[in-house]
Amino acid sequence: MNSDKFCPMPFGSMHVDPDGKIYICCSDRGPIVDDYNNVMNVQTHSLREAWNSKHYQKIRLEFLSGQKPASCVECWNSEVGDSSTSTRTSAIERYEKFENIGYRLNDAINEAKENNGILINSSAIDYQVMSGNLCNLACKMCFPSYSNGWTKFYTSRNIDVNDITYHSSVKMPSKLYEDFNKEYNWPKKTTIQNILQDDLDNIYFLNLTGGEPTILPENINLINNLKKSKNINKLELCIITNTTNINKKLLDALDGFYKITIVSSLDAMDEIANIQRSPSNWSQIYNNLLTLRQFSYYKSNVSHGVNTVITALNLHHIGSFWDFLVSTKDLKMNPSMISVAVVVNKDYPVGLEIVPRSAIAKIKEEFQKKLSLHNSEIYKNVMDYFDNIDWANDNTLMLEMLDNIQKYHPEHNIKELYKIYYE
Ligand SMILES: C[S@@+](CC[C@H](N)C(=O)[O-])C[C@H]1O[C@@H](n2cnc3c(N)ncnc32)[C@H](O)[C@@H]1O
Ligand code: SF4
Repeated sequence: MNSDKFCPMPFGSMHVDPDGKIYICCSDRGPIVDDYNNVMNVQTHSLREAWNSKHYQKIRLEFLSGQKPASCVECWNSEVGDSSTSTRTSAIERYEKFENIGYRLNDAINEAKENNGILINSSAIDYQVMSGNLCNLACKMCFPSYSNGWTKFYTSRNIDVNDITYHSSVKMPSKLYEDFNKEYNWPKKTTIQNILQDDLDNIYFLNLTGGEPTILPENINLINNLKKSKNINKLELCIITNTTNINKKLLDALDGFYKITIVSSLDAMDEIANIQRSPSNWSQIYNNLLTLRQFSYYKSNVSHGVNTVITALNLHHIGSFWDFLVSTKDLKMNPSMISVAVVVNKDYPVGLEIVPRSAIAKIKEEFQKKLSLHNSEIYKNVMDYFDNIDWANDNTLMLEMLDNIQKYHPEHNIKELYKIYYE
């Protein structure tokens, strides 16, 4: 198969969005529909039904005939340069790991070729489940579709959703806030532990995210049920958490898996952390971080990493934050366990495009120094990214954003940001 155009995911992966809709993966512009064009949702359809829907069949056949399916456009658009990555390219790497422990993608491909895209003997092995949108935070780079914390937080302050613009280049009403007031609590109503039941014995990987997966007791049932899989000695479970909450019962449930990966979503320390991920408390998060570091230190099958989202709020602080993770004696994070997402989208209120061009040279210089110090690819990748960003000509939008953040969140101390961007 041509690795420039082929994707393994329609042959082995399934994704459930916070609202329960079923997709092939998180970048799929799907969602999967049934023969009557009804959107398939875990509340009304089983994952097995979706797996051999005409929709999945069609996408498999398109890949087998060398086409680039239109619903995969997000990946094709992300793959712009030689070093760029996409959901598809990371899936190719993940599937190579599955092959090393016994999975045979070619069996699924051959079956699909012989059977007009239908897979009876080959089942899904790689899942991402976003277990609703129940979350305790309203992070400024995130949205109500992932967090009902947004609705709770702004409603409790009597702030109308259409006023949360931060700066004038984001026009309201915005599609990004469409799910304000929506609560996706299907894991409490649909027995979440059963959604993977049909193919329980074949799972190699489950990425459990949300919402905030650690605040949902039903996710512990899901994990305990996973342990009944005959494939447990090959099954990797990954949990992505905002680290505001250590659920002891959940940690206890993690015994027995082939691998556990816990990803702490952390973008900054101290007040910048509280500003980007509100309403959070950095000292509490730091204590939880220490607990997770210890947990991974003592369990040989557990790895712990950090995922950082870079926005206009924390860009100036990333170098010192990553230094802190790597150099603090009690943390000693390996730089290879730090991953990154960069928010670049003019419709996003904290997207990097509002950062004035004049501030970038200094930030790049700092990254260059860190690169030589830590020899970590991550600095280089982010700097390559910077070269393609259409930075703002002046600080107007940045200051507008800071003023509005202060207006909605008088509790934030944003002096550090004002100081940088007033210059
Ligand atoms: C939606 S969250 C759900 C899991 C959990 N609540 C957390 O924050 O870790 C999943 C991941 O998306 C990241 N994220 C949030 N907003 C993002 C954005 N605008 N672009 C890219 N990633 C984002 C989070 O930091 C987290 O690592
Ligand atoms: S904690 Fe996660 S889901 Fe909740 S608002 Fe923040 S990024 Fe979104």
